[in-house]
Amino acid sequence: PTDNLQMEGSSNLKRENCRAKGGSPGFKVAILGAAGGIGQPLAMLMKMNPLVSVLHLYDVVNTPGVTADISHMDTGAVVRGFLGQQQLGDALTGMDLVIIPAGVPRKPGMTRDDLFNINAGIVRTLCEGISKCCPKAIVNLISNPVNSTVPIAAEVFKNANTYDPRLLLGVTMLDVVRANTFVAEVLGLDPRDVDVPVVGGHAGVTILPLLSQVKPPCSFTQEETEYLTSRIQNGGTEVVEAKAGAGSATLSMAYAAVKFADACLHALRGDAGVVQCAFVSSQVTELPFFASRVRLGRNGVEEIYPLGPLNEYERVGLEKAKKELAGSIEKGVSFIRK
Ligand code: NAD
Ligand code: LMR
Repeated sequence: PTDNLQMEGSSNLKRENCRAKGGSPGFKVAILGAAGGIGQPLAMLMKMNPLVSVLHLYDVVNTPGVTADISHMDTGAVVRGFLGQQQLGDALTGMDLVIIPAGVPRKPGMTRDDLFNINAGIVRTLCEGISKCCPKAIVNLISNPVNSTVPIAAEVFKNANTYDPRLLLGVTMLDVVRANTFVAEVLGLDPRDVDVPVVGGHAGVTILPLLSQVKPPCSFTQEETEYLTSRIQNGGTEVVEAKAGAGSATLSMAYAAVKFADACLHALRGDAGVVQCAFVSSQVTELPFFASRVRLGRNGVEEIYPLGPLNEYERVGLEKAKKELAGSIEKGVSFIRK
């Protein structure tokens, strides 16, 4: 850590020991890309999470300021900042959960795949650090294109002999959050009472909401189905266009990332019945990675649920999703293998 952060660190250490003596539950969480549009609100929300005892904020810029700011919040987690690649190892050592929102976001007219050239290298470097310093940590990967960055991370971990597929999760929670919101609007319900499974991947047609499996049980007209599917698939683009060059979803993403990270921490604590959608190593289809409902436990992904009965509209959507996903997965794998 930088000098001023080290000073802060000594009083932090006392607080950390106090917590340990008190036996309060607490996990160590690192955010990589913590000074960014997602990273900052994500760091703030994780500082408010009672399951977090230590929060490490890593970025290649601006972490001293973000850390100083967030460390004044009177919540339990001890916050430490880490700046630049020479501090990546210290940021990662001892972590239980690593959340990665590092990398460039889209501008209008771009696809998520247009981010591949820059973000693939960033994810590779960060995952090399994870395999050296905290190979047993759960990884929540947010950096786009998720359909390719998750296979990249898996290949990096394989090369380092640290790959445990149960610990690597591509974050597709924002698709679920959007689906719950848009479906609730159509049904006239509170979004907190709605649960929409979203499977496939995290880009365009690979985002496949299963509207036939919405809870509470309901039905949609063909027009509603087409409107909702398209709005959920294009939710990211809707935000990119509204921000008009100033980036992509950050606040709703930070909310979704915290919802997902909190589920992972509850599972790590041993809570039963923690189920969320995520893009993971999977045998649900013939593809090596696929997003679907998974049950989380102390070991990460402990069970992957089958897709369940699909209607004709969803079956057609699934074929389209798989076609695009296959190429994106292969692109990520070859980036490391070649
Ligand atoms: P941003 O540009 O505001 O922030 C990115 C941060 O990453 C910056 O602070 C930057 O300094 C940092 N960074 C760059 N290289 C780094 C490195 N090598 N190590 C550590 N940090 C590094 O972007 P944002 O809006 O926060 O978006 C970040 C990523 O998240 C983008 O790729 C975006 O497409 C993706 N995203 C994913 C989802 C999803 O649902 N999975 C949703 C929204 C955004
Ligand atoms: C999103 O879904 O909002 C993110 O993947 C960011 C983007 O580029 O759309």
